[in-house]
Amino acid sequence: MRRLDNVRVLEISRERHIPPVLQRYDPRSLHWFGSVREALLALLRGSDFPRRCVLLPAMVPEGVIYPFQLMNWKIVYYDFDSNGNPDFEQVAQQVRAHTPDIAVLIHLFGVIRDARRMKSLLHVDCLLVEDFAHTTFSPWLSQYESPADLLLFSPPKLLGVTDGCLMVALREGIQFESPKSWSPLRSLYLLVRLASLTLGAAAQHAGHFDGLELLARGANWCYNLSYRLLMAYCSRPHTFSQIGKWLFDYTDHRHVTEKG
Ligand SMILES: Cc1ncc(COP(=O)(O)O)c(C=O)c1O
Repeated sequence: MRRLDNVRVLEISRERHIPPVLQRYDPRSLHWFGSVREALLALLRGSDFPRRCVLLPAMVPEGVIYPFQLMNWKIVYYDFDSNGNPDFEQVAQQVRAHTPDIAVLIHLFGVIRDARRMKSLLHVDCLLVEDFAHTTFSPWLSQYESPADLLLFSPPKLLGVTDGCLMVALREGIQFESPKSWSPLRSLYLLVRLASLTLGAAAQHAGHFDGLELLARGANWCYNLSYRLLMAYCSRPHTFSQIGKWLFDYTDHRHVTEKG
């Protein structure tokens, strides 16, 4: 019996699987970081932005807003319609009023939103970030022609990996601050995330075992602790960890996409 919940677990396969979507981009445009917030921070710290103003969706995860708050950017928001699409009229108004340097479009809950329309409303020098954190590396992405300047992928949101964020820079000349390879709190974070994934996997596969609830609670406890550690270390961007990369390479992405 398998336990059904939304805890991410280790799911390692015997072979390496590189999602085809990663092969379509020039390797020089692929930038790996520890998390989405670290990737955005590396972007903000790596380049000069004249107005330091960002346009964000009104329902925004902490990991997207935090780097802009940390760097003291002006933040303006746009609402959604009842289907979770951007309110494009409001986007146009906000762009006219504030001339943002960056705008973020989230493909909320993995539903693809109209990035082309969003891009058409922005000034030419405004970077559009398409946030694919809620989507898997599905084969569909290999055909997708993005109008954006930067794409964000977040493997730990849907896969059993400790960390990682891939930022694809589609516009020439975007600079990132060089990420740190390690720090003590980050190492502790990785250890606790690994513990959470392992306990989650044990809880899912040991359905007959009396200690099941305890394992699942342990997985959640470790996950919550790892989030606090992430918030404690992420004021400087870090690289994708070796353990995270290994787990990513040995995850069967096709299987995850089919399950989803
Ligand atoms: C759509 C989306 N983007 C970005 C983030 C932040 O990601 P990270 O925790 O890797 O900084 C989240 C976090 O929940 C998210 O849901």
